[in-house]
Amino acid sequence: MLKAPMKQRILIVEDEEKLRRVLALQLESTGYEVELAGSAEEALRLSDRCALVITDLRLPAMDGMALLESIQRQNSRTPVIVMTAFGTVEIAVEAMKKGAADFLPKPFSLDHLMAVVRKALEVQSLRDENVQLKEELGRRYRFDNIVGSGAKMQEILGSVARVAASRTTVLLCGESGTGKDLIARAIHHHSPRAGQPFVKINCTAIPENLMESELFGYEKGAFTGAASTKPGKFEQADRGTAFLDEIGDVPPAIQVKLLRVLQEREFERLGSNKTRQIDVRIVAATNVDLRRALEEGNFREDLYYRLNVFPITIPPLRDRSEDIPLLAEHFLRKYSRENGSSVTGISEAARHKLVAYHWPGNVRELENVIERSLLYASGASLQPEDIRLDHAPRRATAATGGNGGATGNGGEFLAAGVTLEEHERALIREALKRAAGNKSQAARLLGLTRNALRYRLAQMGLE
Ligand SMILES: Nc1ncnc2c1ncn2[C@@H]1O[C@H](COP(=O)(O)OP(=O)(O)OP(=O)(O)O)[C@@H](O)[C@H]1O
Ligand SMILES: [Mg+2]
Repeated sequence: MLKAPMKQRILIVEDEEKLRRVLALQLESTGYEVELAGSAEEALRLSDRCALVITDLRLPAMDGMALLESIQRQNSRTPVIVMTAFGTVEIAVEAMKKGAADFLPKPFSLDHLMAVVRKALEVQSLRDENVQLKEELGRRYRFDNIVGSGAKMQEILGSVARVAASRTTVLLCGESGTGKDLIARAIHHHSPRAGQPFVKINCTAIPENLMESELFGYEKGAFTGAASTKPGKFEQADRGTAFLDEIGDVPPAIQVKLLRVLQEREFERLGSNKTRQIDVRIVAATNVDLRRALEEGNFREDLYYRLNVFPITIPPLRDRSEDIPLLAEHFLRKYSRENGSSVTGISEAARHKLVAYHWPGNVRELENVIERSLLYASGASLQPEDIRLDHAPRRATAATGGNGGATGNGGEFLAAGVTLEEHERALIREALKRAAGNKSQAARLLGLTRNALRYRLAQMGLE
């Protein structure tokens, strides 16, 4: 960065030695450092080390006007003051048009010189400051590891920046793989709580009967097997942030207790009647429409309103395709580095293919696709044929579609003509049927996380 040194350095370009000496003495005695050049050629070698250039217009060989132009080509931020001979105002005007900061008609007083020099340096420092402020503004919504220069993501990152500083509860909504986890962490890391714990609580992963003790902890002897006292997730998150992922999956019995944490910031450990106070910031995430769950009676209205204080909705990737190229490049760099791949770019045609796809699995799917594509790529840049997309497969044939027969086939391996894909699809349908459409329960039956199931359903076009 061009940063002015403690003592600002001024370059004087003048072929007349006497005048050069007078100027140097004056500037040095007022606290500047001075460089001297007798020709334009010499000046060009020195100008980028100086905060200001004062040049005569008439010089041997290359003249002052040409020097002005060269300096501007080299580094447009160094201001140039030109000294012009008596009666050549037109030339001075021309120099100003070409970008000179000011001019000094000869002969000039030393006071006049100083006034012009101070003004030029002052204007320059304001300009530098302005450039710096603009750069900072451009950086404002930039977060580590989050790609999103498009208007929609910028708006989201703006909200993140705004809400991070407070203790306000944030509700992140968005399809699977849109970046809710990433945003939740960004909120924590940009908050005054950054040095305190960030505790993620995956409401789907914890079995219902263990949820209370996981969340709120328990006292020794609270239940059979409680051999010692254990603090819960909320206590671990004290003074930090608790991230309640998949909040839509919290069973009603726990919803009441969460409400109390949100309202009063207090709770009791299982088997204890001592009320504990905590200072915790809550960020919750959901990929289901909580409002619908509310209407269907699966989610408490009072809890919904306590959570919905500052909602941030992350749009699916297909609705912000402007972010796809940069995201793709981001993942390409990441996996290329990790795997020592020599692929460094994405061809135009490959980029088109990526942007045109509908990304049911959102950013997570894009990440997976790029990682996989790198394994197929042979050149320096990704080609369309390197990119294998998981197109939604054709509809299942009548023989295997939806009858659930694939689960009860006894010793049989795979029925003749049934592909692995069709088999998987049948298993998923059967699980959904047994769970009466409840995805969390179906996921448990299949030994998958709810997210993994949703991802597969989306891929199969069954969402
Ligand atoms: N804007 C982004 N910039 C860079 N990486 C991103 C972005 N959004 C998502 N990712 C990456 O995509 C993957 C999925 O994101 P994340 O886990 O945050 O999604 P999610 O919304 O929490 O999904 P789920 O609902 O399935 O839990 C992660 O590896 C994450 O780092
Ligand atoms: Mg997540």
